[in-house]
Amino acid sequence: MINAVHKIEEVKKQVNEWKKQNLKVGLVPTMGYLHEGHKSLIDRAVKENDKVVVSVFLNPLQFGENEDLDKYPRDLERDLEVCEKAGANLVFNPEVLEMYPESSCSYVNVENLTKGLCGAKRPVHFRGVCTVLTKLFHIVSPDKAYFGEKDAQQLAVVKKMVKDLNFNLEIVGCPIIREEDGLAKSSRNIYLSKEERKAALILNKSLKKANSLMENGERNAAKLKEIIENEINSETLAKIDYIEIVDSENLEKLDKIEKTVLVAIAVYIGKTRLIDNFTFKLN
Ligand code: PAF
Repeated sequence: MINAVHKIEEVKKQVNEWKKQNLKVGLVPTMGYLHEGHKSLIDRAVKENDKVVVSVFLNPLQFGENEDLDKYPRDLERDLEVCEKAGANLVFNPEVLEMYPESSCSYVNVENLTKGLCGAKRPVHFRGVCTVLTKLFHIVSPDKAYFGEKDAQQLAVVKKMVKDLNFNLEIVGCPIIREEDGLAKSSRNIYLSKEERKAALILNKSLKKANSLMENGERNAAKLKEIIENEINSETLAKIDYIEIVDSENLEKLDKIEKTVLVAIAVYIGKTRLIDNFTFKLN
């Protein structure tokens, strides 16, 4: 079984050896409890690189005070199995103090793109994501790093950070992986009761309806948002956090569909907050 490496210096040493041999290194950053979505990122990384590092680190910095850090699911043994089967070469699983010694007081913040969508109610979230990714990029020095399109805002923010701060790597976005019935795979799906699991289908259903209207020429963002809203509100267990139609790169709100847009939603099903989205490209 593949072993987890817990120390930063050990990862750096291994990566240095690979780099000396001119090998391409891919990084798949995760918070563990790996599912098919993560596996698809590792599969892609294995195809496109000589060596693949998967980080499994539940990053406390990206959780707000009343969020689910304490109950976030963990299963390192299973994660190691998934990584090994998928062909990863190293799993980096540091302790919190290894990543953030008590003296640690530096943060990375991407402005503008982090104000809306998930950032509106999760004010420290993206600062935590950008800080941990900056550290991981420095520790692993990957040629490419892989992210799911399900976290569309995260992907846009990370791309912007890499561009603004001249990180020397390519960010690769990978398609959303769904259950057979359309629910986007997420580590948080485990929180859903049987009844809530059924109710959660409303996210994908409402987005599909909007997508089909857009394909048939609807260009009015307010109208599309209202249709998504009505659809979600037809499900009694669902409570809308946000429905937004934004420019897919700078995440600014749009009134009209005139370019490539991101349609993104966050919905509480019971106490579980789920997100989903699609990107609509105008030809
Ligand atoms: O998407 C996630 O799982 C996390 O936000 C990430 C990118 C691993 C950073 O902790």
